[in-house]
Amino acid sequence: MIEVDINNLKLLSKKERYTTVLKQVDALLENENNVIANLANVTSLLKSTFDYYLWVGFYLYDKDKNNLVLGPFQGSLACTRIEIGKGVCGTSFRDKETIIVDDVNNFPGHIFCDSKSKSEIVIPVLYDGKAIGVLDVDSAEYAFFDEIDKIYLEELVNKISNILS
Ligand code: SME
Repeated sequence: MIEVDINNLKLLSKKERYTTVLKQVDALLENENNVIANLANVTSLLKSTFDYYLWVGFYLYDKDKNNLVLGPFQGSLACTRIEIGKGVCGTSFRDKETIIVDDVNNFPGHIFCDSKSKSEIVIPVLYDGKAIGVLDVDSAEYAFFDEIDKIYLEELVNKISNILS
């Protein structure tokens, strides 16, 4: 069973925390291939490792409705559906690019799910060149996410893209 030791975590840098999470994700995926179980555990791992994240979760492409539907997440109640091209999530999905927003008030069309959210990073989940979902992380602080978050979260999302395909 994978456990996150919170006391030990406080001594780790952000890079070290991500490295730990990536190893744990490998272990999770090796032992289970159920999509919901794995995505749920990935969000739990991220939220417990980065206890200062406000919200972390997946939005997955719903081909019948041609929009994004809320998937496993950790945090408070969130919007259930997001149109392609709308908000940070819909824009990242449409453009197949990671978006870092330092101040959500300055992102045109940003969708507020939680008024405490001040900055955000959204990483598209790509499979075979196609976007199939996004991973969204929110912070209660401005300009919270940087290149380190981008690099490691893209690596994490790469690891899970084939279980989502
Ligand atoms: N802020 C996102 C919506 C999702 S919530 O933050 C959980 C957006 O603008 O797409």
